[in-house]
Amino acid sequence: MRLDKFLCETLGVTRKEATILLRRGEVTVDGQTVKVASVKVDDKSHVEWQERHIPMPGPRYFMLFKPDGFVCSHEDSSNPTAFVLLDEVNMDKLHFAGRLDVDTTGLVLITDDGKWSHRITSPKHKCEKTYRVWLEDAIGEDYAEQLAQGIQLRNEKDLTLPAKMEVVDYSQNELLLTISEGKYHQVKRMFAALGNKVEQLHRESIGAIVLDDTLEPGEYRPLTQEEIDSIL
Ligand code: URA
Repeated sequence: MRLDKFLCETLGVTRKEATILLRRGEVTVDGQTVKVASVKVDDKSHVEWQERHIPMPGPRYFMLFKPDGFVCSHEDSSNPTAFVLLDEVNMDKLHFAGRLDVDTTGLVLITDDGKWSHRITSPKHKCEKTYRVWLEDAIGEDYAEQLAQGIQLRNEKDLTLPAKMEVVDYSQNELLLTISEGKYHQVKRMFAALGNKVEQLHRESIGAIVLDDTLEPGEYRPLTQEEIDSIL
């Protein structure tokens, strides 16, 4: 593919704007400044614009360790959006494959591949999500059974789908909960229906994709091909 076409597709600029970037010497290919628009690039080329790597056009997939206090939307009047934590081009094309509440931390997947994210968010696909939960009050003896049978949430017609609960530490009211749907505030509402309250919530995994323990809150990385394929 011609370099100017590549820049148009990846940066969302016009041909004319791409030519200007090139003339200004803002683009390198494999470490060399390139000013000629007709130079060919392919999937092995390492293209940088203003010292930032520009991946080949195509679907993009990232995992983010969402910290407390960030919202999973493009705009919000009171809190910063988690998108400010990403340093990518064409941010408006990216979306969250399943949101977390502003005070929930942990794994968030971000992509521009709508079909892929649909497999995560659509109730039809029953993609499992595991949360680490800290409750205000003690974990009830019957919780695991009730969660497995389904919980009647307020303002919902159907019971929640069977969920798996594993106690991590009774003294800290800490447990792991795996659910396969994603209703609004679902985990908080499930425990509210059991007469308890979620104090802290952290998502550890989505399907086979586990939050990378080398990521600090606010950090992100591209998904590996294996992680991407695990959703398909
Ligand atoms: N369930 C919730 O209640 N909140 C989240 O952020 C995710 C799942």
